[in-house]
Amino acid sequence: MASQPLSVAVIFQNPTYGPAPESAQPALAWLETHHRSFGHFIAGRWTPPDPQRQFETVNPANGQPLARVTQADAEEVKAAVAAAREAFTAWSQTPGHVRARYLYAMARQIQKHARLFAVLESLDNGKPIRETRDLDIPLAARHFYHHAGWAQLMDSALAGYAPLGVVGQIIPWNFPLLMLAWKIAPALAMGNTVVLKPAEWTPLTALRFAELCQAIGLPPGVVNIITGDGQVGQMLVNHPDVDKIAFTGSTEVGRAIRIATAGSGKRLSLELGGKSPFIVFDDADLDGAIEGVVDAIWFNQGQVCCAGSRLLVHEGIAQRFHDRLRARMEKLRVGDPLDKAVDMGAIIAPPQLQKITRLVEQGKAEGAQIWQPSWACPSEGYFYPPTLFTNVAPAATIAQEEIFGPVLVSMTFRTPAEAVALANNTRYGLAASVWSEDINLALEVARKLKAGVVWINATNLFDAASGFGGYRESGFGREGGVEGLYEYVKPACSPVHRAPAPAYAARPAQPSNGLDRTAKQYIGGKQVRPDSGYSRIVYNPHGNPIGEVAEGNRKDIRNAVEAARAAAPAWGEQTAHARAQVLYYIAENLSARRAEFAARLVQQTACSMREAEGEVDAAIDRLFTFAAWADKYDGAVHQTPFRAMTMTLNEPLGVIGVICPDEAPLLAAVTLMSAAIGMGNAIVLVPSQAHPLSATDLYQVLDTSDLPAGVVNIVTGARDALAKVLAEHADVDAIWYFGSAEGSAMVERASAHNLKRTWVNNGQPRDWRALSACDQQELLRQATQVKNIWVPYGI
Ligand code: NAI
Repeated sequence: MASQPLSVAVIFQNPTYGPAPESAQPALAWLETHHRSFGHFIAGRWTPPDPQRQFETVNPANGQPLARVTQADAEEVKAAVAAAREAFTAWSQTPGHVRARYLYAMARQIQKHARLFAVLESLDNGKPIRETRDLDIPLAARHFYHHAGWAQLMDSALAGYAPLGVVGQIIPWNFPLLMLAWKIAPALAMGNTVVLKPAEWTPLTALRFAELCQAIGLPPGVVNIITGDGQVGQMLVNHPDVDKIAFTGSTEVGRAIRIATAGSGKRLSLELGGKSPFIVFDDADLDGAIEGVVDAIWFNQGQVCCAGSRLLVHEGIAQRFHDRLRARMEKLRVGDPLDKAVDMGAIIAPPQLQKITRLVEQGKAEGAQIWQPSWACPSEGYFYPPTLFTNVAPAATIAQEEIFGPVLVSMTFRTPAEAVALANNTRYGLAASVWSEDINLALEVARKLKAGVVWINATNLFDAASGFGGYRESGFGREGGVEGLYEYVKPACSPVHRAPAPAYAARPAQPSNGLDRTAKQYIGGKQVRPDSGYSRIVYNPHGNPIGEVAEGNRKDIRNAVEAARAAAPAWGEQTAHARAQVLYYIAENLSARRAEFAARLVQQTACSMREAEGEVDAAIDRLFTFAAWADKYDGAVHQTPFRAMTMTLNEPLGVIGVICPDEAPLLAAVTLMSAAIGMGNAIVLVPSQAHPLSATDLYQVLDTSDLPAGVVNIVTGARDALAKVLAEHADVDAIWYFGSAEGSAMVERASAHNLKRTWVNNGQPRDWRALSACDQQELLRQATQVKNIWVPYGI
């Protein structure tokens, strides 16, 4: 029998995909112009490749080498940093408009060569051309356009701020050109120069970008690109002439960088791992949610820091949802990344494939149920099929560890409260996705999620106008949006430094039985005796004893943190207006006791009565300032190019450990306290070690000012010992430390454990009476973390 003629009807009944290949030729031809061999891009020139130190970059879709790149040695890293340093003076003084034109030219060049960049990225990384063409490359261009605007506006919109200097930037392999854009665009816009190290597996688009910098005539040294592995990253991190490190990658390496930079005075921003929840309520548009899951976890083969890798489904619809999801997975197409009809490409490299395989095996061993489509992946190259795990326990390894592959784990919940608890049950806090047609429910849940980005009825939306970055162990700092600019600037008028306060008369703490005169600890709204049973004598600058305070220890800090943690949620959810009222009330009560507090300052610091009264007045003023800011330091609706309200909220961090300096013992404590609690945090405050009595006198003021118990806790004692306990405490979200240089280093190092945010003074005293607009903004920024909630709309 003759075969049926091909007709539209036949095709319609049995549609199959034909190949839709994109040619690799233009990208390969470009590689040939470099003889498939690269040195580094330093001071506007290519260094000669050293064959002894070269390694291959490979196409993950077929395992074939694409080119050879050079492992930088110490001399090359030095040369790159020196080039950036040399270029910095002129670049930072280049008018914003001129910098804007360079950034604009970069954006235009990326657009002009978009297809070459897209093909090169797909070849080097293994991700589908559909993604590089439609997302990575256009978004990279968008970042340069957006930040060209910020360069233009810096003088007016960021008046009072200056660039940091030389920035070392280390990026991962999952979005090579896009991460480059996220790093380089804001750094250059704000007048910094950069040394960027792409990931060893994906250096090619960064090297093509270097060529683009040459093409537009960017001054030599403004952008330097060096290649190599983690050792090169380490050399960059440890280089003494680097002012800031911006890193995106694994939490492990982020932690190592936090430790390596501790005490160096280098600024740091970390964009780390995640285990982001994808929450589906029973009233969600299920078709939309299924497509959402596809974008959340199978986008870039799941090698996405904010991948929605934990599916949380309302119990009542779980069976139906899983069935539909399996049907959809069966239809996904895995294959040649340069095929335009392919959904998923290759995994980056064998070690990553092994990691995925190992974790999947562990998931099975721990009792979860695995499902994979019936079809097989290509045998050539490093492919892994889309995978769904159901029946997963919340504590299972696969529910807690970042797999960084196309593996989705699913759990169920019954109530919104349970969904939030499950969603937050991770050490990470990068992103989350919430699906419900009930906007009240979705926004309520979004507020309660510990995540830097929340997408409602959407997922993986990114834009240069909106900040991206994490809570908790997903890191700190933001990329994109106005919030991202502050990672690359410092106040131009750095805090006015002055001579250190008279040195604390270091005498050993003496056992004391003068209990009636000893100021106790203030924990959970109560005055409590110290666990140690010891007190410490407070001396005046002449070395005479003037009083005693409790000698706090580890246990007291633990109790104080517990009290603060208990108080934080309700205080954070208070209206800003209500928090302001409390601050005004504290100011009123302090004002009523002005003479007493002034006398105490004279007694402790031997300052004049005039100076002391000035400090009390300034403290009252400070309370008014942060009461005023409480309901004014608000967010924004970012102008992202989507039909979405992208709402930026300044949320409290939670629990902050506040270690006060010896200078201005009342004013500094009140300044830090009012900024922190005004923005909704609960604090554990360690007063000046030398002059703690002003802070302990505050108990009575706080007690009579309607401050809820536990919002402010005060533990006196040896500053650095208490700071260390706070820095190491897993339930403290941030540390502010104003003490010695060694103490600052210790706090930064010790806080690496849970990657808490730190703000330290590196041993530099400041004049607390002067509080410029920039200083106020800095305090408010330190007291908050930015959450962006995306709510698409449309009927
Ligand atoms: P990685 O964190 O080791 O590498 C990221 C970048 O840091 C690369 O440029 C690398 O050369 C550099 N680097 C490595 N060690 C360094 C060090 N000690 N000092 C300075 N720079 C250093 O990530 P890797 O090995 O590529 O992937 C391991 C795991 O990390 C993945 O399985 C995934 O779970 C996670 N990851 C997360 C990313 C994210 O965006 N959150 C991105 C890449 C990986």
